[in-house]
Amino acid sequence: MDHFRYHDNQLFCEDIPVAELAEKFGTPLYVYSATTILDQLKALQTAFAEVEPLICYSVKANSNLGILKLLAEHGSAFDVVSGGELHRVVVAGGKANQTVFAGVGKTDQEISEALHAGVLMFNVESEAELDAVARVAAKEGKVAPIALRVNPDVDPKTHRYISTGKKESKFGMDIDRSLKLAERVKSIGSVTMIGMHMHIGSQITTVEPHAGAAAKAVEIIAQLRAMGHPISWYNMGGGFGINYKGHEAKAIAEFASVVVPYVKATGCRLAMEPGRVVVGNAGILVSRVLYTKQSGEKRFLIQDAAMNDLIRPALYESFHRIWPVVVPPGLPAPPDDYEAAIPGTAPWDVVGPICESGDFLAKDRSLPPLDRGDLLAVFSAGAYGMVMASNYNTRPRAAEILVSGREVHVVRRRETYDDLLGPELVALEPAPASH
Ligand code: LLP
Repeated sequence: MDHFRYHDNQLFCEDIPVAELAEKFGTPLYVYSATTILDQLKALQTAFAEVEPLICYSVKANSNLGILKLLAEHGSAFDVVSGGELHRVVVAGGKANQTVFAGVGKTDQEISEALHAGVLMFNVESEAELDAVARVAAKEGKVAPIALRVNPDVDPKTHRYISTGKKESKFGMDIDRSLKLAERVKSIGSVTMIGMHMHIGSQITTVEPHAGAAAKAVEIIAQLRAMGHPISWYNMGGGFGINYKGHEAKAIAEFASVVVPYVKATGCRLAMEPGRVVVGNAGILVSRVLYTKQSGEKRFLIQDAAMNDLIRPALYESFHRIWPVVVPPGLPAPPDDYEAAIPGTAPWDVVGPICESGDFLAKDRSLPPLDRGDLLAVFSAGAYGMVMASNYNTRPRAAEILVSGREVHVVRRRETYDDLLGPELVALEPAPASH
């Protein structure tokens, strides 16, 4: 359930007409609903309440400071994968001692920063990384709390680019190697193993992969404890899927009902790293139609959001619902089912201004007639949208707006050309005066 709704043919974010925001702040524009974000956090807290979950929001999904602050104020913990993300969490008021530090390639500097900040635990993904964490901790006279990231070899049944739990993935270690490494951990004084971590993939829409992973977790945790490790955390990672098209993802409560019994069997507290499910459906990308164009049989809708603003369609051929922000009277309401024919629509390729054939937001998408100046909403863009944006083609990145009821907060202003050139260090002659 999100808080983007059509009233009288106009799209609203909570109590604010989206068209008003586009007028005021320009396009392309990310618009987020604070209530949706908090509803999702609450849904996780409630569904997993029995096992006292530490909900470590995965900052990589959307790292805007306004969103991190909102989540921190409502009891969220955090999952970071870089020194930069940890810095954001601290600046936004999050607690380092409720932050887990994941990622396959932590540098010594990042390890040291995380030790100084006092993170809850490091998710360690390889033998070499264990050595690095141990070495840096010893040098600084600290004991690093760690969880080994175990790869349970279950198929998350998701896109191959976001699947991580299979044996042949670069993430984590298989069970045998993890257990061998756990033996070695016992002899290292500068680390203590307090948890076990898994993350099998992202946009997982069914409950079975999570159940399969949790069942293995019970056995592995028992083995780690038998070796003498004080394991008090089972970190199940993130990966809960959301609805991009209709109702394809299982509800949070369904995931909880299969996972909780296993967590109880471990006797651990549950940590989790949800990203997409918290913010994904809480954001839209708003764009404005620049031109329409016909090439042969194909109709192109050229609008001002591009792959630099939202790269998911280009990178994963992912589907985002797209619909006009203001639907003229007599034209269809946004469809529930994109597979069915939608009366009053025609197929369009929705493309951006970037010089790449891969610069599209949708292909052959059924849309009502549209013209220059019309506004479009690209739905479910709150996760892995702005965080993956770039300045390709020297395009300033979009502004971001956080709406809460009738309140509108600009949580990131639109970039200027000066912002873009700022870090470049070439001394340029002033342009000669023209006559
Ligand atoms: N924990 C770990 C260790 C992860 O690698 C990830 C995501 C998460 C948690 C959060 O997963 P979530 O709950 O959001 O599914 N850019 C891609 C998604 C990449 C996910 C990377 N890891 C996309 O746009 O679909």
